[in-house]
Amino acid sequence: MVRYMVTSALPYANGPIHVGHLAGAYLPADIFVRYLKLKGEDVVYICGTDEHGTPITFRALKEGKTPREIVDYYHEQIKETFGKAKIDFDFFGRTEFEVHYKLSQEFFLKLLENGYLIKRVEKQAYCEHDKMFLPDRYVIGTCPYCGAEGQRGDQCEACGRPLTPELLINPKCNICGSSITFKNSAHYYIKMQDFEERIRKWIEGNSHWKPNVRNTVLGWIGEGLEERAITRDLNWGIPVPLEEEDMKGKVLYVWFEAPIGYISITIEYFKRLGKDEEWKKYWLNGYEGELKVIHFIGKDNIPFHAIFWPAFLIGYGKYKDEKGEFKWALPYDIPANEYLNLEGRKISTSRNWAIWVHEFLDEFPADYLRYYLTAIMPETRDADFNFEDFQKKINEELVNNLGNFIHRAMTFVHRYFRGIVPDQGELDELDKEALEKIERAFGRVGELLSAYQFKAALKEVMDLANFGNKYFDYKQPWKTAKEDKVRTGTTINISLQIVKALGVLLGPFLPDASDRIWNMLNLNEKKEWKFKPLESGHKVNKAKILFKKVDDEQIKNYLKKYFPALLEKYFPEELQKEEKTEEDEKMYVSFDDFAKIDLRVGKIVSVEDHPNADKLYILKVDLGSEIRQLVAGLKKYYTKEELLGHYVVVITNLEPKKLRGVESQGMLLAADDGERVAILVPDKEVKLGAKIH
Ligand code: MF3
Ligand code: ZN
Repeated sequence: MVRYMVTSALPYANGPIHVGHLAGAYLPADIFVRYLKLKGEDVVYICGTDEHGTPITFRALKEGKTPREIVDYYHEQIKETFGKAKIDFDFFGRTEFEVHYKLSQEFFLKLLENGYLIKRVEKQAYCEHDKMFLPDRYVIGTCPYCGAEGQRGDQCEACGRPLTPELLINPKCNICGSSITFKNSAHYYIKMQDFEERIRKWIEGNSHWKPNVRNTVLGWIGEGLEERAITRDLNWGIPVPLEEEDMKGKVLYVWFEAPIGYISITIEYFKRLGKDEEWKKYWLNGYEGELKVIHFIGKDNIPFHAIFWPAFLIGYGKYKDEKGEFKWALPYDIPANEYLNLEGRKISTSRNWAIWVHEFLDEFPADYLRYYLTAIMPETRDADFNFEDFQKKINEELVNNLGNFIHRAMTFVHRYFRGIVPDQGELDELDKEALEKIERAFGRVGELLSAYQFKAALKEVMDLANFGNKYFDYKQPWKTAKEDKVRTGTTINISLQIVKALGVLLGPFLPDASDRIWNMLNLNEKKEWKFKPLESGHKVNKAKILFKKVDDEQIKNYLKKYFPALLEKYFPEELQKEEKTEEDEKMYVSFDDFAKIDLRVGKIVSVEDHPNADKLYILKVDLGSEIRQLVAGLKKYYTKEELLGHYVVVITNLEPKKLRGVESQGMLLAADDGERVAILVPDKEVKLGAKIH
């Protein structure tokens, strides 16, 4: 039997996980592993956080924290997120484990001993302003291969090639933006050219690899492999295990030690299980039986897994223990995915254009996210996460097709057979076809999963549910129930067989739904990747709704909370509403706006009753340079006598307005507490027409 070691790229402990990560390296691996486990295969699934290198120190610098604080926080946060997404690692470790330090240093020393490392003093990027060497991400500039601007010194995001800060065109310090200088520093370089032939042949022989992975790598190797430094001037990481003066304070390059984490985390896993030697079965060729190591990664990780990592494993030479000498297993496969975009734009952490998995799962069930990401998985080309498409796929496929079929079968067995699986009776052609379809689904979905064709595999499962609905419609058990109980029993029996099959087939994709189907069917047996029919006479549990529709309101609220930028696209009316309330609640008037109001001191020189309104007076006010007519609702509060000769404050540039047929050419200011009204006056005598400001 083959033994599988499956890994997902160790995420940097420098930020949360987004949907692109999930669709790239975690969800496919998890589906694959769940499938292997249902088949009863021997598989261990390992992951953990990648906690060193400039991705960590740079983030710490930006956040004003220590690297230790950053990695401790994100290790926990990432682990929790994977838990919520139901990514079921056998063990999720970290590269801060002591065994990882030990093993990484051992790899370094072995490579040195075997003559694959060479120490050189070379010019390294340095910032005079920040007074430090600038390894990897600390330098930003133009990629010398493809010309993409704004690339960091570790890797070009556009063409995927590994870089060094010294290679960048027009390099700048990524901390302070100043031009960099160069300073000599001693480092150990791995002589990649020594591995070129072996790695080329090995990859050429790996014809089972996905073409996107194999071709890119062969292309790069064709350009020739060069020495690459595997130590760094950095104060965070695994110390170079040498007592040499010029290695003081230097650490191993993160891309040298991180992949070793796959092994060291496996060691730690089995150590905690009290099986100290067991890890060797999963990493050493010929230690015990056949072994397949499979690394699930995103495409940016391809060169590191397909070129450098195998070189480290070869360069180590043989691992020796009391049982003998063993070669490290080279990756059997590296099924890298392409990128997932978000609403047509590249996901970007720095521009905060990302769906963070922990936030998304606060609003939607894990199965929904898993379903959608699998349905659009970027297996061979980039894919796009689109909210409308998400809602549509969940509602039309998960709810209307899958959920609906299961619900129909489950409610009918209760309605007509008191929840007891009826006998199969005599089978007609369609019944037989249904049973064949089930059998075939296990084979077909399994084949597709083995070939990492997750999208197609899920489609195959959904086709079975779709067939179930058609079968049900055609058989019309609600009609036959009245005249032919036996035939109805057959229909329900077959339908429930499909439900049970779906319970297993969905297991890798939608673990929650799969468990709930199992509970509904009242099954205690372990799920197995094969068709084991439900027995008649078995009592099932109540029908429960598996999936609820995602309505507009939910999407709207999600976007409001996390993607206001997308509201305009999906809910433009919402935005108008918001604008209005903002307008209404505006607390401030600009000074300029206030200054537009012309307020003047005046004196009432005549008071008359309004001919058509009993609450209004017609006043004439002397403003010094002119007499204005105002209409004011003061009758209730002032007698004519009280008003005559009264000083007032008038807004003189208010738009004239007719009140019950009489024009008012301004407004006087008065205080109103709800009971009484009092006219505002200047508190000493001033000239009429005096300006108020
Ligand atoms: N931390 C890397 C990334 O997020 C992946 C490391 S994978 C390992 O791109 F092999 F180095 F562990
Ligand atoms: Zn600087």
